[in-house]
Amino acid sequence: MTTITSVAEMQQWSLQHKSAGRRIAFVPTMGFLHEGHLSLLEAGRKNGDLLVLSIFVNPTQFGVGEDYADYPRDLAADGALAAQAGVDVIFVPSAAQMYPKDYATWVDVEGITEVLCGASRPGHFRGVTTVVSKLCNIVQPDIAFFGAKDFQQLAVIRRMVLDQNMPLEIVGMPIVREADGLALSSRNSYLSPEQRQQGLALSQSLALGRQLAAAGQRDSAIILAAVRAMIEVNPEARIDYLQICHQLSLQDQTQVDADSVLLLAVFLGKTRLIDNCFLLTE
Ligand code: PAJ
Repeated sequence: MTTITSVAEMQQWSLQHKSAGRRIAFVPTMGFLHEGHLSLLEAGRKNGDLLVLSIFVNPTQFGVGEDYADYPRDLAADGALAAQAGVDVIFVPSAAQMYPKDYATWVDVEGITEVLCGASRPGHFRGVTTVVSKLCNIVQPDIAFFGAKDFQQLAVIRRMVLDQNMPLEIVGMPIVREADGLALSSRNSYLSPEQRQQGLALSQSLALGRQLAAAGQRDSAIILAAVRAMIEVNPEARIDYLQICHQLSLQDQTQVDADSVLLLAVFLGKTRLIDNCFLLTE
């Protein structure tokens, strides 16, 4: 396994292997790797001749007052996990290289970025699409893997790749959870033991939503009220958003159908966690 920190070197490596006919699988991350990231790497290993992992805590997707400076980083541990996962190259660029002084170009997906996390975190998706587009230009992958934990991010990336005619396949991977249901996230490391306990309300309330839908409830307002009540009994939990949306348009649905996704963002103290599930399918 090689670590590459230079943009030019990474691009050269990729172009060289591509011209030799090798298929490059890519997993972009912000590091502090957990089983969720490892599931993407495992899929990448199986679907490419070469596997590239990027680790870059992307400053442009963090808002003012968000956790950019505090975001957990542990390159040594990440390197060990990446080697075990069969990664060929870890690409770790610096912020100064990715965004040099006169940097001026942004990729902005309209519409689906304006709801849910986009409404709560203005500019967030502009940072995500810009960096993913740049990383794909550098790494030149044939296939890239993203987790459904960030459901809206996956939808936004798919839209960008389609709209920009980017020559790669995007694969969405299922949410990896702790044994008790909490979706794995690098940000879980911020939680106090009490917050960690109360965070179970996220996955448990999604399960309640699915149960109600399975029992025949189709009225979104009724399902949302039940889910809300289950979360709000936890004193540390504050709902940022809680919505039932169409999986592609991400528009609110008043009636549940096979395309309905229940999405939520909840603060536990200062830590904001997200989770989602389809209500009827999968
Ligand atoms: P990060 O939060 O590090 O996540 C990297 C990838 O891992 C994303 O595709 C995310 O959806 C996936 N992932 C995270 N937790 C997961 C879980 N519990 N189960 C399955 N997949 C999971 O998402 C980002 O970084 C950044 O926005 C990035 C795309 C790298 C752009 O900066």
